Amino acid sequence: MTAQTKVRHFLSMSDLSPGEIADVLERATAFKKGDRTRSLAGRNAVLIFEKPSLRTKLTFDIAVHELGGHPIYMAPQEVMLGKREPVKDVARMVSRVADLAVVRTFGHALIEEFAQAASIPVVNALSDAEHPCQALADLLTIRQHFGGIKGVRVAYIGDGNNVAASLALGLAATGGHLTIASPAGYELPERYAGQAISIGQKTGGTLSMVRKPASAAKGADFVYTDVWTSMGQEAETAIRLKAFAGYQVNPPLLDLAGKGVKFMHDMPAHPGEEISQGLFDDPRSIVFDQAENRLHAQAGLLDFLFS
Ligand code: CP
Repeated sequence: MTAQTKVRHFLSMSDLSPGEIADVLERATAFKKGDRTRSLAGRNAVLIFEKPSLRTKLTFDIAVHELGGHPIYMAPQEVMLGKREPVKDVARMVSRVADLAVVRTFGHALIEEFAQAASIPVVNALSDAEHPCQALADLLTIRQHFGGIKGVRVAYIGDGNNVAASLALGLAATGGHLTIASPAGYELPERYAGQAISIGQKTGGTLSMVRKPASAAKGADFVYTDVWTSMGQEAETAIRLKAFAGYQVNPPLLDLAGKGVKFMHDMPAHPGEEISQGLFDDPRSIVFDQAENRLHAQAGLLDFLFS
């Protein structure tokens, strides 16, 4: 593909309007029921990963294949974005032979630079700022367990990180109510909080930021957490363990929530840190539904981008 046509990228949850998110979730639901379109037939999708992955790599590979396309995985040591050659040269080269680039990297600016130079759709498979594909799967999971998203109450306990940012934007766009409990210094960045609040003013969605996990969990339909130390932050482990003490999600915290509360985690988890040992086996846990929904949500996204 050489022509500089207008292409849709998916770098942030805010790249999709509320109506487009609903469209992607409809397509994801149809895919989950077994409907298969051939929207990627004859197309090549390169998966460029600069960080490890189980769920994202596996589910993008399967989704591309199931939609009739050809996935090509490039491991961290192969491409070395911006180190072996300039990011924009990689983007321009890939655009000549592939139809889609799925990129997992560290700095969000790098994926923006890649998308700027690419003439094919670029999908953010996780950056330090956002994890929008995870958020699509989270919304699909909430929709399936709650019967919809509008009005749902979600408590997110812990780090106001990339997962929290995309979740906040996604829930705001779909009319959900999110309360984030974080220790001082680890709140959702102001940029995302402001964006989520602004989007929510049009949809009825709300975002609240609190300090105490119990305040967030009370009455919640879903309690969600993520690791305290994300990939690339390993040098901060000791300081983070101290900062997040008291922010563990465990059965007593879930007991404070609504009667039918469900527990969510994007995985992988660090049991003994952000969750108590064995929490994945608690009857309230839906983490494997959530992980499976990565496949369906991404298939819905790719179908949307290529239909
Ligand atoms: N949740 C998630 O993105 O998992 P992976 O890092 O295994 O892809």
